[in-house]
Amino acid sequence: MRPLTEIEKRKERHLRLSLDENVQSDIGTGFEDIRLIHRALPEIDLDEIDTETELFGKRLASPLIVSAITGGTGFAKEINSTLAEVAEELGLGIGVGSQRIALEDPGVEHTFTVVREKAPSSLVMGNIGCPQLSIGWGVEEAKRCIDMIEADALGIHMNPLQEAVQVGGDTQYRGVLEKIKAITGELGTPVVMKETGCGISREVAVSLKAAGASALEVSGVGGTSWAAVEHHIARVEGRKSQEALGEALWNWGIPTAISVVEASRSTDLKIIASGGLRTGVEMAKAITLGADAVGIAKPFLEKAVEGKGALLEHANDILREFRTVMFLVGARNVEELKKVPVVVLGRTSEWLRLRGYDLQSLANRG
Ligand SMILES: Cc1cc2nc3c(=O)[nH]c(=O)nc-3n(C[C@H](O)[C@H](O)[C@H](O)COP(=O)(O)O)c2cc1C
Repeated sequence: MRPLTEIEKRKERHLRLSLDENVQSDIGTGFEDIRLIHRALPEIDLDEIDTETELFGKRLASPLIVSAITGGTGFAKEINSTLAEVAEELGLGIGVGSQRIALEDPGVEHTFTVVREKAPSSLVMGNIGCPQLSIGWGVEEAKRCIDMIEADALGIHMNPLQEAVQVGGDTQYRGVLEKIKAITGELGTPVVMKETGCGISREVAVSLKAAGASALEVSGVGGTSWAAVEHHIARVEGRKSQEALGEALWNWGIPTAISVVEASRSTDLKIIASGGLRTGVEMAKAITLGADAVGIAKPFLEKAVEGKGALLEHANDILREFRTVMFLVGARNVEELKKVPVVVLGRTSEWLRLRGYDLQSLANRG
């Protein structure tokens, strides 16, 4: 077997570190401040609940997506294979990790194509990063990513924090919006602009809509922290200032629940809520706040490493919880769930009020 290249080593290190170290943000997603109103008489039967929805022309049995995680190495291929099998079996969507590595070395494409092989009917999303757009990648590379896995949509991740915290990160973000516009104008496949754990504000959501994005995956604070991942890498490598920078920015960003409100109220784009989503209860809360679907990364990664059975069981638990909450608020389907009243408390309500949102009408709708 040939030795791993530098980029392969980095991918492997990200996977191992996020599995072995504490990379969890230590502030909440904001969903702890969200309450749905219990309906003592749901006036529906639990077994008539329909969780099906549609995104980018593909059917999802439930509004749940395996967020972008990995690709590029043998270990990553095994993980992708397990994630994709479960996505296919449960009718979930699935995103691959950054395909940059396969564009630079087509020899590792098989670590990504396994996703489409194992999930032939699922909604599959490709992935590249804004830093690649800065160095000149454009429509041609975007199309190669899509063709590689017959993707239904292309995720473009915005991760300025991680790039700024890591040693030698790509921090040229000037002009990226124009590049996004050029891609969305020619691609013909929906583009999902996604964060990786710091959230998307209303201002950025509006500019991404103007640049032609079809959807936003908010990936806010409350789950995996990339400042934490880079903090650990710097610690292992003995780089003191980077280690301190990662620690200082550990909880940087917009909590996920807030980002869902900001992004969904300021645009009519499809919204994927992610960043620290862990339960079916939170999944339901995200949808009542304005999300069309929910994405989960790290917990699915952990279970995929344990094996397909563990992942299936975990995903099924989340879906059972989601369906039960739909029952308890009397929502027959996802469209009805989007309209149930929702009460916003605590720091989340303070933030949203200061940003001018009318929380009273949210609490009294339906
Ligand atoms: C090991 C690992 C690798 C990731 N790689 C990517 C990536 O290549 N591209 C991307 O857009 N997001 C990537 N992410 C970010 C996730 O898609 C997600 O936005 C983030 O982890 C927050 O979700 P979570 O709290 O459920 O983990 C990665 C996450 C993890 C844990």
